[in-house]
Amino acid sequence: MCGIIGLIGDVDAREANGEPGPSVGDVVHQGLANLEYRGYDSAGIALVDTADGLTVAKQSGQVDELAVPELDAVTHGIGHTRWSTHGPPTDANAHPHTDCAGDVAVVHNGIVENYETLKNDLEAAGHTFTSDTDTEVIPHLIEDALATDPDADLLDAVRRVETQLAGSYAICAVREGDDRIVVARRGSPLVIGRGTDASFVASDVTAFLEHTREVTYLEDGDVAALNAGRVQVFHGGEPVDRGVETVEWEADAAEKGGYDHYMRKEIHEQPESLRQTLAGRLDVESGDVDLDVSFPPGVLADVEEIQIVACGTSYYAGRYAAQLFETFAGVRATVEIASEYAFGAGRTPDRTLVVAVTQSGETADTLGAVRRANAAGARTLAVTNTVGSTVTRETDTTAYIRAGPEIGVAATKTFASQVATLAMLAVLFGRDRGALGAADARSVLEDLRGLPGAVQQVLDEEEAVREAAREYGDSEAFFFIGRALGVPVALEGALKLKEISYDHAEGFTAGELKHGPLALVTSETPVLAVLTEGADAGETMNNVTEAQTRGAPALGCVSAGEAYGTLDVSFSVPNVGVVEPLVANVYLQLFAYHVANAKGRAIDKPRNLAKSVTVE
Ligand code: M6R
Repeated sequence: MCGIIGLIGDVDAREANGEPGPSVGDVVHQGLANLEYRGYDSAGIALVDTADGLTVAKQSGQVDELAVPELDAVTHGIGHTRWSTHGPPTDANAHPHTDCAGDVAVVHNGIVENYETLKNDLEAAGHTFTSDTDTEVIPHLIEDALATDPDADLLDAVRRVETQLAGSYAICAVREGDDRIVVARRGSPLVIGRGTDASFVASDVTAFLEHTREVTYLEDGDVAALNAGRVQVFHGGEPVDRGVETVEWEADAAEKGGYDHYMRKEIHEQPESLRQTLAGRLDVESGDVDLDVSFPPGVLADVEEIQIVACGTSYYAGRYAAQLFETFAGVRATVEIASEYAFGAGRTPDRTLVVAVTQSGETADTLGAVRRANAAGARTLAVTNTVGSTVTRETDTTAYIRAGPEIGVAATKTFASQVATLAMLAVLFGRDRGALGAADARSVLEDLRGLPGAVQQVLDEEEAVREAAREYGDSEAFFFIGRALGVPVALEGALKLKEISYDHAEGFTAGELKHGPLALVTSETPVLAVLTEGADAGETMNNVTEAQTRGAPALGCVSAGEAYGTLDVSFSVPNVGVVEPLVANVYLQLFAYHVANAKGRAIDKPRNLAKSVTVE
């Protein structure tokens, strides 16, 4: 998830005192600062000037470290703040990217899935690349389109290039000598701001809200040309009218996408973030996965044991994954809380793979475990959200979860993307080791492909969850239960609720209730159960009944098509096989959120907690 902005024209040029408004460069720079929550590992600007042509300034680091070039006659500009997906956060990988001649500059949000093929073809045709990014193919394709057809202008070229790209993108392009910004959107957000003498474009309205509230939302497949105060939108080559809406939010709410809290926004971002996680990695036809992990051939097949190390929510993602590794790859997989990890005597380090799961990549306990694994001589792999983080430097290879920045202390979308990434890794392992046949792999990948849509269906049920939170939110304590893949989800559900509501919440293996915790169960302690595929729903339901017999209200996340008439509340989970418990977790996230919100808790910054725990 990156932030992009473009501006063409004069902002506030008619101020009462007759002074000129702010420069294009300054407005673009401020817009980037407003978008920094979407990514913040590098930033850049391209300005088009009637005297000097196209000027690009870009560098790794935060937006406020970027100096805006001082130019006299700038007419329009584009800018980008980056959250790395391809290539580390270096100056060269920062956007904008340019063509060979330096006449065309492009900023991009999303992932070009076929960039390797395109890059190979372009290099073979003589184009020179200077970055590791997928984005850089776009200006070169534009250059190619302009060279192929001398009558083509920037709009024609972007229209042509748009048909060559696979994946998701929001693109803004400028060209020296062309008095427009040309934009295109497919799968990544893009909104146009309509000023009197200026037009804006950005990943979201936060970027330009201080200048205009009149906006046009582009749809997938749209290409638009922006002049100062004039916008033309095309779809399939034909002009279309996308209308103009007025944004009512204030800037603070706009940054949260109109939500009251980042946590709720991030819960709702899961369909998009999961799409990014999966983009270009699933080959459903063949049952194969491409995760870019760089182990030499044969290494995965040679692994005898996988040890997953992690903390908190990431630990629960690891517990989910361990079951998938054992099922898909037939390999022994253990999960250890990172602060408790020691490489056990008697194990074979060079046939053990230690997988460190950490959203931030900076958790001290997890880094400590990685160092112990490295010292023992084990192979190490990081699963993280943060390009260039410490864990990526201290492990042999990395699989990125690509969830985009998560601001709320409570991990939500990163949990979903961790599990999805680890599930792909488990399939990769299974295929490499010959333990998972193509037909079974295809079926798992189908389920993964269905994940974003299934999560959206759950989000559409939010009102029912809010209602349940209203009814049961003031209970004495909350118990979450599940079996098999339902166990990590029950544990994660309890963690989410306790950390943001400060209520007593615990997760149990459903079968263990009767071995002790049942003593805590009363009519004041609702039980929330994972009753889906992959979670042994029938047996779990028996444990739910044990709790109900002691008076506990029972809420269940139930596979669509199944019904347990005795539940007090039933949430339907779309049928997506082994990832159903992960989808059920979205109900638990919403439940935690609404219980905590009704109590007025500091949801995004719960007391005593930090987003990244960098002390052991
Ligand atoms: O950055 P990490 O994934 O390594 O963080 C580990 C835990 O601190 C983290 O998952 C924590 O439990 C969550 N923020 C809780 O919601």
